[in-house]
Amino acid sequence: MTTLTSPPLSTLLERLFADAEASEADLRLQIGNLSPEERAARMRSMTDYRSYYARAKDIYLAVSRETAVLLYMLARNARARSIVEFGTSFGISTLHLAAALKDNGGGRLIGSEFEPSKVVRARENIAAAGLSDLVEIREGDALETLARDLPESIDLVLLDGAKPLYPRVLALLEPRLRAGALILADNADMCPEYLAEVRAPGRGYLSIPLAEDVELSMRLTGPR
Ligand SMILES: C[S@@+](CC[C@H](N)C(=O)[O-])C[C@H]1O[C@@H](n2cnc3c(N)ncnc32)[C@H](O)[C@@H]1O
Repeated sequence: MTTLTSPPLSTLLERLFADAEASEADLRLQIGNLSPEERAARMRSMTDYRSYYARAKDIYLAVSRETAVLLYMLARNARARSIVEFGTSFGISTLHLAAALKDNGGGRLIGSEFEPSKVVRARENIAAAGLSDLVEIREGDALETLARDLPESIDLVLLDGAKPLYPRVLALLEPRLRAGALILADNADMCPEYLAEVRAPGRGYLSIPLAEDVELSMRLTGPR
């Protein structure tokens, strides 16, 4: 058995995924008047992202169940001890990554979230799973909170906050990525600049699209 597949986490995740699916239905009602193009344009905007996510403060916007399990498997396989997450929301992805840290023997996950009510809920969920000692959620804009006090070496990164910021967040973390570090970017096709960067030959990454809308990249060189 693993931390992921046993109580209390397994039962908590069943409830959270059910809530997440219900909240997605609410989101569809709220933005039902927006065309898919308008919604994508808002999510891609460099200036509107705060208002987009403020309106979505009660919505999970979680990674899919498959991506969540993939995160656990990648973190276990990489024997990750040091993980950074851009975009925590209610903590569904965080719980999968923290469970992997626990099953790897310990470590530290730094999460980031700018909606205060989501930070509270994420911390409650992490405490309910008994994983608080492994997780620090930094409240505020990740462009500031992930610009300081990073671990010497980072094994795994999840990019899942505002899509236009992916290249800037990667730039903050890159000096600490170990050779072989994995970066999973959800909804990466909403940031063509990010895809161009991690796929560029000679830029220091191997990168492939995976499943629906996920880009998995590996850092080839170590910390600078
Ligand atoms: C797609 S959701 C994250 C879902 C989460 N990874 C999960 O699987 O449960 C994106 C979250 O990132 C937050 N966010 C977006 N841009 C941010 C930024 N610049 N700094 C901090 N949080 C941000 C939003 O408030 C939102 O809760």
